[in-house]
Amino acid sequence: MAIERITVAQADEDDQVLEITLRPKDFANYIGQRRIKQNLQLAIAAAKKRGEALEHVLLYGPPGLGKTTLASVIAHEMGANIRITSGPAIERAGDLASLLTNLQDGDILFIDEIHRLHRTVEEVLYSAMEDFKLDIMLGKGPSARSLRLDLPKFTLIAATTRTGELAAPLRDRFGMIHRLEFYSPKEIQVIIERAAKILHVKIDAKAAHELALRSRLTPRLANRLLKRVRDFADINGDGTIDTSISLQAMELLEIDELGLDPTDRLLLAAIIENYKGGPVGVETLAALTAEERTTIEDFHEPYLMQIGLIERTSRGRKTTPKAHAHLGKTKTTKQQRLI
Ligand code: ADE
Repeated sequence: MAIERITVAQADEDDQVLEITLRPKDFANYIGQRRIKQNLQLAIAAAKKRGEALEHVLLYGPPGLGKTTLASVIAHEMGANIRITSGPAIERAGDLASLLTNLQDGDILFIDEIHRLHRTVEEVLYSAMEDFKLDIMLGKGPSARSLRLDLPKFTLIAATTRTGELAAPLRDRFGMIHRLEFYSPKEIQVIIERAAKILHVKIDAKAAHELALRSRLTPRLANRLLKRVRDFADINGDGTIDTSISLQAMELLEIDELGLDPTDRLLLAAIIENYKGGPVGVETLAALTAEERTTIEDFHEPYLMQIGLIERTSRGRKTTPKAHAHLGKTKTTKQQRLI
């Protein structure tokens, strides 16, 4: 499928550099997620007043909503060092032991995709989180001995797209659990305008609003779209982004007025045309669209549900009348007709 797509799952290196540049460093510059911000600001102020490390924090929600960004903001506000890693990167208990023993009091360890942590590693984490102790086994068989090491009073910030997959003993060890919500279009517009200022790009309010509507209510996507539109404006205009330039760039990227990409439309069309609107199981959808099941579950579905185009039932996914109306409006591409 030679189609240009902008999905959260497929960031190139430039996008990652851009994301880091645009990331707000403190709460003053962090837009949205008001309730989470208030809770965290209170917990941070209290921890600092007592001279203690912050309690462990679990952040969950769809990709691109700023879980890593929030972890860095927390570290900055605590005046703490942050070490960033991810579940799959910690292959053995020894890898985790080495991470933990290299921390200092008050440091923050950020583990992204914590649901992908190996079971054996996860078990080491339990006593580390609860008692700040590291239990390690020396040797094997009858001569094996266990050794208990003291760890610094660190804070674990973990992120996941799926809390359902976390074992209860792990979940229970977090003092705070926060679900990141999709942003409002207005918040995304402000994020786009802030990013444009940092990148020295001129964008008018109407164009920022139009881009916000197409950014899946997700800051990472908003920043990425801004960059693509900037390219378009540099080549096809004088570098200034107005509504006409934004809409032409979106047309080229095949992103429609609801922010749907070709795969979203393919998914909806698959349910409507092959299954009369569903319900359809996610495995069937994965096969029909040649997408990974996890990409559908973590990336496509949450947004399609958020804007009311699909519903999840115990028997599978169903499209809503709004989805039928939307697909009826957008022209069916050749690719959609193949199914
Ligand atoms: N960039 C990414 N997420 C952001 C947020 N929540 N506020 C400001 N800029 C951002």
